[in-house]
Amino acid sequence: MTKKLSSDITPEISYSSRRDFIKALGVAGVSAAVLAACKQKPFLSGEEIPNEPSLTDEPGITPLSSGTTDELGNAITSYDDVISYNNFYEFTTDKEGVVRLAKNFQTNPWEVKIGGLVEKPQTISIDEIRRRYSAEERIYRMRCVEGWSMVIPWQGFPLAALLEDLKPTTEAKYIRFESIYDPKELPGQKNLYYPWPYVEGLRLDEATNDLTILATGLYGKDLLPQNGAPVRLVVPWKYGFKSIKSITKIDLVSEMPVSLWMDSAPNEYGFYANVNPSVDHPRWSQATERRIGEFSRRPTLMFNGYEKEVTALYEGMDLNENF
Ligand code: MTE
Repeated sequence: MTKKLSSDITPEISYSSRRDFIKALGVAGVSAAVLAACKQKPFLSGEEIPNEPSLTDEPGITPLSSGTTDELGNAITSYDDVISYNNFYEFTTDKEGVVRLAKNFQTNPWEVKIGGLVEKPQTISIDEIRRRYSAEERIYRMRCVEGWSMVIPWQGFPLAALLEDLKPTTEAKYIRFESIYDPKELPGQKNLYYPWPYVEGLRLDEATNDLTILATGLYGKDLLPQNGAPVRLVVPWKYGFKSIKSITKIDLVSEMPVSLWMDSAPNEYGFYANVNPSVDHPRWSQATERRIGEFSRRPTLMFNGYEKEVTALYEGMDLNENF
C-alpha cells in the first residue's frame, strides 16, 4: 500500500469546539478527477459495466478498471488507497479508521426516497436503481478541499437519467441530497457538532451536466461501505465534500439547499465549492494538491481540469463571492 504522509491524516481530536475541529482539518489534504480514452466523451472508458456484483471479490486482489489513466494521462490511484483512505464523518474523522468502523455497515436492502417538486415521486430500492440505470465507467479526478487528490474509476450513471424519469416541475431549481441518519449504527453521528444528516445540493443545471453521476461502484466492483455504498453522488469539478455518500433521500426544491458544511462553517464552505486554485480556503491555499501515492505537490487545475465542460455554467458569476 502506498505510504501516506502524516500531513494527510486528520488527527484524532477532542471536539472542544467545531472551530478547533475544522482547524485540525487544515493540516490534511484531498480529492479527485477523471480519465478515460473514449472518442466522443473523454471521460467514458467505453465500457458498459454489467450490473454484476464485482469482477473479483477475492481479498487482496485488485479488481479491474478498463482504463489505467484519466483523459489527461494521470494514472489511476491504487485500489488499496481508494478503499482505505476515506472521509466519511458518519463513522469517524480519522481517514484510516473509516474502513474498520464501516466494515459491517448494511447497505442492502436500501431505499432512496425521492420527492419534492417532481411529477413522479418515488421510493426506489438499490436493486431497482441498478436494474433501471445501467452503469458505465467514468474515470474522474477527485480533489478534496483539504488538498489531496485521487483518480478513481467509478461505475455509475448520469444523474440526468434519473431526473428525466422524475419529471421535475418548473418550480424546481435545485436538488437536495441527504445521507443516511442512524446514530445507532454510525458512531460519528454521536458527535453533535455536526448538524446531521449530511446534506448536499446542486443547481439543476449542475445536476444535469453529463459529468455528474450517481455511482454504485468503483474499480469494477460494487461500492464498499467506506466509499459511500450503495449509491453516492460524484461531481468531479467540485471539491470532494459535494460528492455525498450513502444517499437515502433526494428532493427537488426551489431554494438553494443548506449543506452540512455551509451550516457548520458558513465562512469557510459555500454552496458551489468549485475547485478553484485562485480562491483559497480561509485557512489554507488551494493552489496545489498532493495526489495520493505521490510525494510532491502538483498545481491544482481550474474546475479540477473540467473547464471545457463546466465553465459555461458559471458565466457572469463572481467565483470569489460564489465560492
Ligand atoms: N458524504 C458523507 N455522507 N459523509 C462524509 O463525511 N465526506 C466527503 C464526501 N462525501 C463525506 C461524504 C468528503 S470530505 C470527501 S473528500 C469524499 O466524500 C471522500 O470520498 P472517498 O472517501 O470515497 O474518497
